Amino acid sequence: MNIVLGITGGIAAYKAPDLVRRLRERDADVQIVMTASAEEFVTETALQAVSGRPIRSNLWDKEAERAMSHIELARWADLVLIAPATAEVMARLVSGAAPDLLSTICLATEAPIAIAPAMNHVMWNNQATQANRATLEERGIRILGPGVGSQACGETGAGRMLEPDAIAAAAFDIAGSQDERLLDGKKVVITAGPTREPIDPVRYITNRSSGKMGYAMARAAAAQGAEVVLVSGPVNLEEPAGVEVTHVGTAHEMYEATHTAIENADIFIAAAAVADYRPADIKEQKIKKTEESMRIDLVRCPDILASVAALEAGPYTVGFAAETEKVDDYAKGKLRKKKLDMIIANRVGDDCGFDRDDNTVSVFWSDGEERFPQAQKALLARDLIALVAHRYYAVRGADSKDNVIAIH
Ligand code: CTP
Repeated sequence: MNIVLGITGGIAAYKAPDLVRRLRERDADVQIVMTASAEEFVTETALQAVSGRPIRSNLWDKEAERAMSHIELARWADLVLIAPATAEVMARLVSGAAPDLLSTICLATEAPIAIAPAMNHVMWNNQATQANRATLEERGIRILGPGVGSQACGETGAGRMLEPDAIAAAAFDIAGSQDERLLDGKKVVITAGPTREPIDPVRYITNRSSGKMGYAMARAAAAQGAEVVLVSGPVNLEEPAGVEVTHVGTAHEMYEATHTAIENADIFIAAAAVADYRPADIKEQKIKKTEESMRIDLVRCPDILASVAALEAGPYTVGFAAETEKVDDYAKGKLRKKKLDMIIANRVGDDCGFDRDDNTVSVFWSDGEERFPQAQKALLARDLIALVAHRYYAVRGADSKDNVIAIH
């Protein structure tokens, strides 16, 4: 994957070396193109060290142009990514003006372009910036973020650059999914993360799920053109770009939100680690430590996955099975018992599964299976979504996509 990374002059440029590292971890070749004002925020030396390539910044650099001209660079790119993208560069892209190397490459490339805006929240909300954003989106330029939060200027609002890992994941998905958008026109609902079952106003029962796998699946499904609704328990993750996220706390709330979202859904993927039991009654006041021991009575939570699988004319339904032993047997048992179309099984324990960036899984359906070796969750999610799409079209058939067959 060849990525031209444009860095423009915003304070978030200090995160650029980290972004380069994240892209290179995913095996991308990164050619950095800096604007003059970016050099105020981050040094060429640091960027050259992490990217392993000489930095390009000047359209008129004869020696660099001889090695690879700006037109060749524009052709070389599988993706042009601008992060951070200032209000100024957005305006320049809209106007089509090309006074420097980066904007010239943007005009000359046929590769997809993605930008991660970063600016003060008032600048972001300014009518001119919003009109430029809308124009760029209409022209197919992917806008990643911005996030909401505290800003370098001391104020709070929308305009923070997304975190490097989120940008890298989104960029990779965009560049990797240009040829086949397997889920164009399909609606996919995904649950992710843990649930929290309150005991009293200050305590709850939860589990170790980080939500990373579900979020990666949501991002991968969106990159394949799906309309994605992500029903998320409490996690500490950046919202995936282009995905509608509904935040919930308890299993009951997740059940309600899922059934609201499931109408017209084509595919449901249950990646959440939903509590199987919740306290029978939630104490209104904080429980005091009066006794030497105590009991909490628990009652069953609704099984969201099984309830969706039982819907008449429901979506193609995919479950996850996190097991500490007999992974294949237990997973196949759940596939049958919950009447699922597919189950994705992984082993969990101290050394694998939860709250890690990589994972290894086995996938089972009624008459087949596939094993996926250890891989970054983002890459694994991409392959899993392709497999889900393939199986979905194989089973639900009607408008099957010709190009899906080529993948598996
Ligand atoms: N799941 C769900 N709602 C629940 C419990 C689980 O939707 N109340 C979903 C999970 O999202 C996952 C799958 O069911 O996709 C498997 O969950 P798991 O808890 O491993 O399975 P159980 O059937 O609850 O079996 P056990 O806990 O005994 O392993």
